[in-house]
Amino acid sequence: MQDLQLTEEFFSVSRAQKEAVNGHPSFVIWLTGLSASGKSTIARKLEKELFDRKIRTVVLDGDNTRIGINKDLDFSDEGRKENIRRVAEISKLMNDAGVVVISSFISPFQSDRLLAKSIIGQNSFIEVFIDANIQTCIDRDPKGLYALAKAGKIEHFTGISSPYESPENPDLQLDTNLLSIHDSVVKILDFLAIKFKLN
Ligand code: PPS
Repeated sequence: MQDLQLTEEFFSVSRAQKEAVNGHPSFVIWLTGLSASGKSTIARKLEKELFDRKIRTVVLDGDNTRIGINKDLDFSDEGRKENIRRVAEISKLMNDAGVVVISSFISPFQSDRLLAKSIIGQNSFIEVFIDANIQTCIDRDPKGLYALAKAGKIEHFTGISSPYESPENPDLQLDTNLLSIHDSVVKILDFLAIKFKLN
């Protein structure tokens, strides 16, 4: 490939100024966990709670981004890595616009989550492990994907034919085998209230 000559441009309104106008800091709440662990439901309810507190938010979700900007990517290890790299870059752009991002991706590999953290910045990256065990997810199977994967009709399916590496040191770990969605969201809000003084 040709050696590209690129120079980063800096613009006149800073992230800090945008955060000041919004009245809150921007950061990324990164939800990681198996399919059917509860990520999307928690993301939806968390966004509503933050919105009601007049916080500017966006949700990025695996299914939605894979229908759109990432529709060229598959579920191979490389496809997932590029998926996470792109959504981390998008999350960072949203943070630069002063927006709180809820990123909901299986993001099964520790190395990819570390890459996301390095792109977003470690002080802006809140890793939340939505921790439902595989049997719970198989029993829930809301989209019927586990049944298809077990029948060999979907390849590289996380938890069946592709690994999920649990986070080693998440900021929050929510056992959704036991916790309700409501209680999981309250725990995230409590964490944010302390870390970012959000009320
Ligand atoms: S990843 O691993 O972070 O790149 O995956 P993600 O972008 O979050 O996409 C997960 C959703 O894609 C659907 N789906 C699959 N998931 C896992 N493995 C395979 N092979 C697969 N094929 C399709 C599935 O609906 C996932 O959504 P959730 O909400 O997690 O159930």
